Amino acid sequence: MRDSLLIKAAFSEKTERPPVWMMRQAGRFMPQYWEIKNKYSFLEMCKTPEIAADVTMLPVDLLGIDAAILFSDILVTGEAMGGDLSFTQNIGPKFANPIRTQKDIDNLNTDCIGELQYVADAIKVIKQRLNGSIPLIGFAGAPFTVMSYLVEGGSSKDFKLTKLMLHNEPEMAHQLLAKIATVTADYLNLQIAAGVNAVQIFDSWAQALAWDDYKEFSHRYITEIISKLDRKDIPVISFCKGSSVFAPLMAEAKPDVISIDWNVDLLDIKKRLPQGIAVQGNLDPHILYADKKVIKERIYRLFDRMKGENGFIFNLGHGIMPDIPFDNVKYAVEVIKEFKY
Ligand code: CP3
Repeated sequence: MRDSLLIKAAFSEKTERPPVWMMRQAGRFMPQYWEIKNKYSFLEMCKTPEIAADVTMLPVDLLGIDAAILFSDILVTGEAMGGDLSFTQNIGPKFANPIRTQKDIDNLNTDCIGELQYVADAIKVIKQRLNGSIPLIGFAGAPFTVMSYLVEGGSSKDFKLTKLMLHNEPEMAHQLLAKIATVTADYLNLQIAAGVNAVQIFDSWAQALAWDDYKEFSHRYITEIISKLDRKDIPVISFCKGSSVFAPLMAEAKPDVISIDWNVDLLDIKKRLPQGIAVQGNLDPHILYADKKVIKERIYRLFDRMKGENGFIFNLGHGIMPDIPFDNVKYAVEVIKEFKY
């Protein structure tokens, strides 16, 4: 795996072309996903290693992508700590027992890695299926993003309750974030021990935070998590929405790769980062709704811009939307794989 396109690019080594994978590649834009989803609940799929492996393998087999990503969710850490998690069609995730008081925080369990053994089991099945062909990426949610679901009780537009806790009850917020960070580091190390070849930390909602708050309530805990990982040859990818602003700070946490949203020119931001930090990104996922001609042009434009740069992994600036035509995603992967510098 050390010689795969993804791992080499993640360690800023030269590759013959940029590797490609896409956030949310193991999901709803594929008709084959729905064939499985119609039979099981989302959490059943995550918790049954054979099914999680089936879904992980869909984009590998159907798209010929350069890396697989574990089929799971960032909220399983919150569930393991005591959150009563469910997923409802068209509504999304829900924690029925939101965390809002000191007592709620005290009750959260950090000695809960045993609850996540099913993820290690899934990783082992997936590794057998991949049989050394491409790397497997493991992942976890960043403390701030996971906290937002625990406090709000589900998805939120404005993160009002979460930000109120940060601003009015910062000590409580820090206790909650510290607990999530402890579990997240253990959880990523569990995935590494089970065999993942890279890990990505998703801080999807970091963009909601002001610079100082990002530093105090998010960056600090991501730094702590990264410092605790058994990294060896395992690159660490740090993703957040808002990375076009936060990337220089994200680099201080010492990831190998920073995944960049689509608001910024990828080369410009890479040049502002310390040597040896690779970038991942950063096509606007909406381009994949557009005509094939446009998809090709925009991929070429990005590749021309990144020409000669080691340490570039193609990805979207955020996840694939569920209604993006499968055919367009497949076409994008073909264009990338045929690309020659
Ligand atoms: O990238 C992949 O394909 C791997 C699997 C994966 C899922 N969720 C599967 C999933 C990953 C990496 C995630 C991470 C995740 N989950 C994030 C961070 C990634 C990002 O895009 O920012 C977040 C914020 C969540 C929380 C979550 N899970 C939400 C808000 C939802 C609701 C659905 C939505 O996106 O509108 C989910 C459910 C979920 N996670 C689905 C899938 C395939 C859909 C479940 C279904 O079929 O109903």
